[in-house]
Amino acid sequence: MQKDEFLKKIFTILKELLITDNLSKTINFTLSEIGAITGVDRVYIFENSIKNGEILTSQKYEWTKNHITAEIDNQELQNLNYKNIFQDMYDKLSNNSYYEVIIKNLAKKERIMLEEQNIKSMLEIPIFVDRRWFGFIGFDDCVNERIWSNDDKAILSTLALAIAGAMESEKRKQELVKLNLNLEKQIQIETKKSRDKDILLFQQSKYTQMGELLSMIAHEWRQPLNILSIVMQSFTLKYQSNEKISSKDVGELEKSAMQQINFMSQTIDNFRNFFKSNNKKEYFKLPEIIIGLHTLVDAQLNNFKIKLQCICNNKDNRVLGYKNELIQVILNLIVNSRDAFVERNIKQKEIVVKLEIEDKYLKIVIRDNAGGIDKKIQDKLFNPYFSTKDTNQGTSLDLYMIKSIIENSMKGKITIKNITKNREIYGTQVEIYVPIVEIYVPI
Ligand SMILES: Nc1ncnc2c1ncn2[C@@H]1O[C@H](COP(=O)(O)OP(=O)(O)O)[C@@H](O)[C@H]1O
Ligand SMILES: [Mg+2]
Repeated sequence: MQKDEFLKKIFTILKELLITDNLSKTINFTLSEIGAITGVDRVYIFENSIKNGEILTSQKYEWTKNHITAEIDNQELQNLNYKNIFQDMYDKLSNNSYYEVIIKNLAKKERIMLEEQNIKSMLEIPIFVDRRWFGFIGFDDCVNERIWSNDDKAILSTLALAIAGAMESEKRKQELVKLNLNLEKQIQIETKKSRDKDILLFQQSKYTQMGELLSMIAHEWRQPLNILSIVMQSFTLKYQSNEKISSKDVGELEKSAMQQINFMSQTIDNFRNFFKSNNKKEYFKLPEIIIGLHTLVDAQLNNFKIKLQCICNNKDNRVLGYKNELIQVILNLIVNSRDAFVERNIKQKEIVVKLEIEDKYLKIVIRDNAGGIDKKIQDKLFNPYFSTKDTNQGTSLDLYMIKSIIENSMKGKITIKNITKNREIYGTQVEIYVPIVEIYVPI
């Protein structure tokens, strides 16, 4: 082979090894090219492994000339213990020097196995990957008792180095893939953890909210309890004044008492429905949120003489989102307004809740005219445990939790600002944006 053609081939092999993205294919190509340029009969790679403290070696790749038998399936060349048979070769290769031999000069023990493969002359060059002895690349001549020239050895050593380089970069790639996989897994674990935390947060907040729930029930029950007690009293009065009590009277008493009791138990069912949180998105229409709010707070707001006005711009389309959780959030913001009204002496008390679908977001505005929030505490509002109420019994979702639910669980945004009229602060406005999926209902 011409020298420049020879060098060109070597160059191609080196380039392939450098840029490969399929290592075993490139190694097979390399072995065949080396075979072609050196004119040997077999080119192969053995890889070491350690078992019970002994270094074994196994054939992993092989190229053979046309008529030469392949040895890749030869079981004797798998997990071969060097030291038992090829002590000399083992010593040389493990010391990072090559091993060359004319087979007929070997002692019998070593010779037999190699003669079975028809080898006349052999050259083995060690491969070190990441400074560890990986194995070796070997060349068999099955026809001539070839003496390997220094040029041969230099070129083959260079190729062995290039193969080692390709193996090293493959190892890096695999480590990187593993690292990435681990990273991805880690991210998944962390995301799940934080999702679990959000769910937990909501569950926990349920307990905090029990107080609020009870207070709402108390408001709701005030009237039916009143009616019940009037009914019972009139009955007792009749009895005490020795008036005759007919079975009709008893029937009427039972009827009106049952009416109130049914209403009371209905209240609990309604409340329970809206307090149910499954942390799952569901399909709903905006008016369902409004119905929920009215069901839960009307009685209470009536008792405080606070007017609640709910508006929505889209009654027909369905959206996919966290309905009950949103109701809870709005409810707790209404409770904040209620507290501000109670604290300050405001005459016309009004809360407005506005629901709007804007692009892929549900925009919720809760506005009150309860006097706004002091500038001094504006930047503490979302801190955990922050409150200006000394009677704060922790019965509601505070702004810290609301922010966490909106921004972490629902991936939305919440802001609070004061609203002014003629430059005077007169109230608070909370704005919430949460992503939703909107389903159009054709008219
Ligand atoms: N609508 C509002 N009007 C006036 N002040 C408010 C309003 N909402 C919240 N605040 C102020 O923000 C503080 C924090 O609210 P929050 O986190 O809900 O805790 P809590 O209601 O338990 O005090 C309240 O103590 C109150 O001073
Ligand atoms: Mg509050």
